Amino acid sequence: MLDHSDDLRFSDGEFKDLSKLIHKEIGIALADNKKSMVYRRLAKRIKELSLKSFSDYIRLVENDPSEISNLANAITTNLTSFFRENHHFEHLEELLANHIKNNKSLRIWSAGCSSGCEPYSISMVGASIINKSNYDFKVLATDIDSNMLNTGFIGEYDAELFEKVPAKYNRYITYSGGTGSITPEVKRLISFKKLNLLHNWPMQKKFDIIFCRNVVIYFDKATQKMIFDRFANLIKPRGYLYIGHSENLMSVCNKFESCGKTIYRKL
Ligand SMILES: C[S@@+](CC[C@H](N)C(=O)[O-])C[C@H]1O[C@@H](n2cnc3c(N)ncnc32)[C@H](O)[C@@H]1O
Repeated sequence: MLDHSDDLRFSDGEFKDLSKLIHKEIGIALADNKKSMVYRRLAKRIKELSLKSFSDYIRLVENDPSEISNLANAITTNLTSFFRENHHFEHLEELLANHIKNNKSLRIWSAGCSSGCEPYSISMVGASIINKSNYDFKVLATDIDSNMLNTGFIGEYDAELFEKVPAKYNRYITYSGGTGSITPEVKRLISFKKLNLLHNWPMQKKFDIIFCRNVVIYFDKATQKMIFDRFANLIKPRGYLYIGHSENLMSVCNKFESCGKTIYRKL
């Protein structure tokens, strides 16, 4: 039992019940060693609600689905950066330069986009290539975490976060004081939407490319399989899936072939 000076206790049983709830609603599978992390991330919310215990909080989430959003905001890991795992953006640049020669549009989904660094990196690559042509380049950016989506929507970040942006894309950032803002030319290419990957996906049109990087790593294998199978149904024939550096499709989903470091192509 975690017994903190402020009297909010967290028993092993409560941790187990909360883990089950988080797995069911968000997909995240928590290992036993995550108990202190869960305590740290949720104690503040429990106090805000003037609840007396984790059991009270579990009951609240079970009875009020609107609280799941706050639970997700507190519990998800949102680490991200501009041009993270840059080889994907280099691959995209080459692919788009070829695609634009014979096609009119490209649709990309950034699934689990966090605060927007990933979809903005995609869109900077896009903006630099489509230039002033009529080519229709669109990015859908989704996440379960409404706070992160809000940051993405605003498109303003601490200037130091832009340090990893390759110099050729600097023209898509304007600086004022210690803040950098994404230019409208890049912002207009993205739609930010809230979406829980475990729920229904309302999108009808298929995508040419899906980025789902460093998201399913927190899910168990069965949930990963379910999500990758659904991605396969929503990617155009021979479309691409980019996944995170420590993720793998081997023995999880056989609907893609590997064609580079964490780059997969629909069979
Ligand atoms: C570590 S971040 C990765 C961000 C970005 N893709 C990258 O690689 O830089 C993982 C993101 O997945 C989101 N996430 C976790 N579970 C989710 C779910 N069930 N549905 C949608 N997004 C989820 C989190 O909110 C978080 O923003």
